[in-house]
Amino acid sequence: MASTDTFLTQKKMSDEAKERLEKDPSSFIMLTGDRPTGRLHLGHYFGTLVNRVKLQDAGVHTNVVIADYQVITDRDSTAEIHDNVLNMVIDYLACGLDPEKTMIFTHSSIPPLNQLMLPFLSLVSESELLRNPTVKAEKEASGHALTGLLLTYPVHQACDILFCKGNIVPVGKDQLPHIELTRQVARRFNERFAPVFPEPVGLLTEAVEIPGLDGRKMSKSYGNAISLSATAEETAKLIKKSQTDSERKITFDPEGRPGVSALLTTAALTTGRAEKDIADEIGDAGCGALKAYVTESVNGYLAPIRERRRELERDLSYIEDVLAEGNRRALEVAQATLDEVREAMGMVY
Ligand code: TRP
Repeated sequence: MASTDTFLTQKKMSDEAKERLEKDPSSFIMLTGDRPTGRLHLGHYFGTLVNRVKLQDAGVHTNVVIADYQVITDRDSTAEIHDNVLNMVIDYLACGLDPEKTMIFTHSSIPPLNQLMLPFLSLVSESELLRNPTVKAEKEASGHALTGLLLTYPVHQACDILFCKGNIVPVGKDQLPHIELTRQVARRFNERFAPVFPEPVGLLTEAVEIPGLDGRKMSKSYGNAISLSATAEETAKLIKKSQTDSERKITFDPEGRPGVSALLTTAALTTGRAEKDIADEIGDAGCGALKAYVTESVNGYLAPIRERRRELERDLSYIEDVLAEGNRRALEVAQATLDEVREAMGMVY
């Protein structure tokens, strides 16, 4: 019950924010981000990247954190982190994020951001942390004991959002508990010390949850994801071996035919056509024809992004510069906020 209420309230706040965004984009500070655990894929692209670029181009102050500390909430190794971070910057730029407009940074590089964690941790209780549904789900998925960092990472995410006074956070539904916690942390800090922080609103991205090639959510760990960085050949192979069924006539039926329908949705997103029209057009030509159509649409759609990716890859020192500049700016912002926090808490000596 309680969570339904919260969802409806959050949905309402999200809708209101969307309306105000149209009228006055420059009054918004957006913060969102990703964990650098691998390459970005079509699910990220249609689920959030397109929207970030739209907000950026509309004049919202856009900030994107590459959440490298969040990687070790549930894994032991950081061996791939460096490579993943640089590739993430490449993916961002290839998709249209402009480092002149969007501040891209790694939160481990910003000590004053991380220092916010201490006062913020004092504002939440153990039981609030333990009942966070995302933390619970991630603990189970990881097969690990619950680490202190996994338990408290929602508070760290509040640091990510509040250090730059973010007031809108585009997220999927699964992240809403973290936004709620961030609002509580902001409110409690403001009440206890001095009004420093906004209470950010989660901006629910439209229900484009792009299915993976098997109809489940697209995720690298399911092996059903089309990476932006994959080659056209790799993409063709992945689509070719995706699970369909033996029925010849192509129909759109996500419940009954998840594999076929996922292919149709993928084609729909990358062509701008409706799933049903594509299904009707292919008709009795069968899954082979459908797969050929999907391969052509995806590879066609991604071609310019992949081309830009290849160019960017050739100049890694530029990528490093982009990140260094984002980190420099984020450090300045974080230091100013931490100064305010220490002032509010009477801790300036
Ligand atoms: N937890 C987010 C994810 O797994 C990534 C993230 C880190 C984030 N910090 C954030 C998202 C701040 C929004 C705001 O996708």
